[in-house]
Amino acid sequence: MLERHGVPFAALTTLRVGGEADRLIEVPTRDELVELVRELDREPYVLLGGGSNLVVSDGGVSAPVIAVRTAGVTVSRDADEVLLDVAAGEPWDALVERCVDEGWAGVEALSGIPGSVGATPIQNVGAYGQDVGAVVSGVEVFDRAAASVRTLSPAGCDFGYRTSIFKAEPGRFVVLSVQFRLAVTDEGAGVRYDELARRLEVAIGDAAPLADVRGAVLDLRRAKGMVLADQDHDTWSAGSFFMNPLLAAGEVPSGAPRWPQPDGRVKTSAAWLIEQAGFHKGFGADLGTGRATLSTKHALAITNRGGATTDDIVLLARTVRAGVLDQFGVTLDAEPTLVGVHL
Ligand code: EPU
Repeated sequence: MLERHGVPFAALTTLRVGGEADRLIEVPTRDELVELVRELDREPYVLLGGGSNLVVSDGGVSAPVIAVRTAGVTVSRDADEVLLDVAAGEPWDALVERCVDEGWAGVEALSGIPGSVGATPIQNVGAYGQDVGAVVSGVEVFDRAAASVRTLSPAGCDFGYRTSIFKAEPGRFVVLSVQFRLAVTDEGAGVRYDELARRLEVAIGDAAPLADVRGAVLDLRRAKGMVLADQDHDTWSAGSFFMNPLLAAGEVPSGAPRWPQPDGRVKTSAAWLIEQAGFHKGFGADLGTGRATLSTKHALAITNRGGATTDDIVLLARTVRAGVLDQFGVTLDAEPTLVGVHL
């Protein structure tokens, strides 16, 4: 294990803001990770994966910060499926790329998402008609409540839209590895998101080759500033900053996009609400220091234009949230994990 002191979160997160980690512990193996969290017992700590969905206050973190740097992918074949057992620290997009190359379907629409494999079940990462919860067959965790290692079944993970038991009970679980069950296919994957279907020139539900789906998703994400690129400030973000609200059917503002859910509620677009409340893409240049603005490519991403602080990000987030509440009576909830930050 490598221990470093006084490491700025600006160097550890894709939003590139936040004070220092007083004590950063980089853990290279699963056994050392288990040993460390056992030792820390009830002491608070912060877990760090890829740093792509994390907003830390300018005051930093005095509790230990554990950077999960574990590696390893084990593959076993089961009839026309593969079972993958993947260490939490593996980079997510490299795994997706491999699945596409090998002809394993189920995660290709999740191409270009930053961060680590262990972070994906936490918020049930989803994009372009797929979510990770649909292909997770188990999550191996250290459960602090029981002080033991166990494997949660998919039902035990309680996946929902951008949520899971891991998000519902923060601090209880440390994800050690994730198991996936994917279909082996020559046919490709059924396309379930309008914008993606249009791009691929197929009908919703039709199959497209996995490599084409990956290519199209990467193109769409790049156009929205959602693929990391050092020189492009629109990508200095934590992805979508707010979740899409789930509302009772009668509460959806007229003209807003409507995506009916199985439970009867209707999901609408946070980006649409934000723009209609007067916060256009790029908004924020005249607010506070002007160093935090909405992305110029997508109204849902809050971005660091260089030199922003967490306070700059929070001022913008609060302004947008208050404007949407005022205009539509809808409260937007933050999507990234907030540490020492309150909106
Ligand atoms: N829209 C706007 N303004 C914008 C962007 C979008 O009004 O600047 C409206 C449009 O009406 C558009 C609709 O919002 O049709 C949906 O936009 P988009 O397809 O970009 O999806 P999203 O709802 O904004 C969600 C996820 C993304 C995921 C995309 C694609 C959430 C919070 N965000 O965004 O995930 O990549 O769908 O599936 O669910 C993330 O969670 O960090 C993330 C990037």
